[in-house]
Amino acid sequence: TLKFLLIFLFMILCTLLYQPFLCRTPHNPLRLWFPHFWKDALFLMRVIRYGARLEIYRRTSRVVTVVDRFVQQAQRIPEKAFLIYEGVTYTYGELEERSNRVARVFGDAVKEGDTVALLMSNEPDFLSVWFGFCKLGCAVAFLNTNIRSRSLLHCFRCCGAELLVVGADLLETLEDILPSLQEDGITVWCMTQESPRPGVHSLLDQMEEASQEPVAAERRSVRCLRSPTLYIFTSGTTGLPKAAVITHLQALKAAGGFWVYGATGSDVIYTPLPLYHSAASLVGIGGTIELGATCVLKKKFSASQFWHDCRKHNVTIFQYIGELCRYLCNQPTNEKDHRVLMGVGNGLRQDVWREFHRRFGDIRMCEIYGSTEGNLCFMNHIGKIGAVGRSNFFYKLIFKYDLVKYDLVREEPVRDHSGFCQHVQKGETGLLLSKICSQSPFFGYAGSKQLTEKKILRDVFVTGDAYFNTGDLMAEDEDDFICFRDRVGDTFRWKGENVATTEVTEILGLVDFIQEASVYGVQVPGNEGRAGMAAVIVRPECTFDGKKLFSHVLRELPSYARPLFIRLQESLEMTSTFKQQKFALVESGFDPCSISQPLFFLDCSEKSYVPLTSSVYDSIVSGQRNV
Ligand SMILES: *[C@@H]1O[C@H](CO)[C@@H](O)[C@H](O)[C@H]1NC(C)=O
Repeated sequence: TLKFLLIFLFMILCTLLYQPFLCRTPHNPLRLWFPHFWKDALFLMRVIRYGARLEIYRRTSRVVTVVDRFVQQAQRIPEKAFLIYEGVTYTYGELEERSNRVARVFGDAVKEGDTVALLMSNEPDFLSVWFGFCKLGCAVAFLNTNIRSRSLLHCFRCCGAELLVVGADLLETLEDILPSLQEDGITVWCMTQESPRPGVHSLLDQMEEASQEPVAAERRSVRCLRSPTLYIFTSGTTGLPKAAVITHLQALKAAGGFWVYGATGSDVIYTPLPLYHSAASLVGIGGTIELGATCVLKKKFSASQFWHDCRKHNVTIFQYIGELCRYLCNQPTNEKDHRVLMGVGNGLRQDVWREFHRRFGDIRMCEIYGSTEGNLCFMNHIGKIGAVGRSNFFYKLIFKYDLVKYDLVREEPVRDHSGFCQHVQKGETGLLLSKICSQSPFFGYAGSKQLTEKKILRDVFVTGDAYFNTGDLMAEDEDDFICFRDRVGDTFRWKGENVATTEVTEILGLVDFIQEASVYGVQVPGNEGRAGMAAVIVRPECTFDGKKLFSHVLRELPSYARPLFIRLQESLEMTSTFKQQKFALVESGFDPCSISQPLFFLDCSEKSYVPLTSSVYDSIVSGQRNV
């Protein structure tokens, strides 16, 4: 607190000192030296103000959680539109009542501290159920609607949920694991009027019968910022998804995102991202509640409906991921007839960013960098094209991070002769590490000390220190802007989702003709992230069967995780520590002209892996063939 206060006073002092200069003389040299002074100052003030609020919660042990804020807003502005979904408006009051009904239905079935799993697509009742259980003091685990059987079962086990609420449209995805769930004693509730099958309860009819009166506020009262409120699944490195623990602290920090960027209660926020990700649920919905604004929720993003929706609902802010902006730019028409002022999201690349401005007007694009489980966050409040964040002296006092030299071939940070990591120079690319301390704790993953430990790097600069390894390569330029370069390690991103190479490797290993596989991501021109590729050794006496492999990955892997390219190998190189040596494979890409081994391509129209010829290659690289 003292530190915050000092910074705050210093800022005010600076502001006062500079004000006369800056206001009176337009060509003041100070303006050249500090071109972003006012924006930086304003931004920092907001960050500090928000931080001070969290500090008060911590000190007084009286936390006003995101759901508490929602209840407050519902009392303050019950008639205000909270959510617009498929043309229907839901007010703060209505959602409050609906979540009360959920709380009433389960009031006796669950107790404080229980975990409940939620498998639903984007729809208003996602929020009713989420808030309803929070009002009973439960933690809620959001399940990714793409993941299937084996992985899904694992998700329940690692967050310890004994109750599952599933959306009506997703019940069939549970088909093959329902018996296992019932064996494990997990009660399944479906968002339908009547029970769709034996052993599955219906929730909608129960909600209609239940009272809309709130349950006692004590049931949701939270005294510690560090108690978990959500579990959000991210791609795992040991093959199965892992549950990132989201505490009230993180939920509240994320909810401040829009506010820090200057949004107000009169804004209309457009969220086409899936709610099971932290971007839509924590930043989007949490941020909407914080402001008392309106959120237009989409079931699924559609590039062709985007501007039409924005016009129809007078949208002023939209949430994005890099891919989404690229899809919009791929649309034929330019749109400047809209009221969108700001985009908030992550992963916008320079080329798309420029194109986006050219096509759709002067929309302020605000990048937020921060992983679901991470303890660090960057924001590019200046809006400089290509940067994910901006740092400065004060920011570094609040967030302790470092960029260290990284060896791409050995896939680990470079250590000097005494075993410590080395800082990179300004402008140089390095691995982003974030210090773990009481100010920015790392809460790890549910039920797995081992996984948590894997993300922690110890003895970095001095013996005994600990840093969260983000796995992202970044560079910080002379003007303190931070740019994303690449992702390293066992995961890559494709279609806005994380893909764990080990998970895909394990699944490929189940195919009878595959002896060994090595999975990595390759860049495909015109696409964000990396597409999955696997180098595969076929068993002796077996032949590669494209159809069989296709149906296997179709059944076992979500669409974004299916390897797009297969490369047959005689052998796979290993590092000295018996890790697969992927660097050379990644570098050589998927061009049939430069690779002598047989290459295959996942062809959905043929329902098979087909040979990757130069003409197929050309059609992919030129963008004629969608991947
Ligand atoms: C959008 O704004 C216009 C002009 O201010 C107003 O007439 C219209 O009713 C608004 N539409 C919605 C859906 O709020």
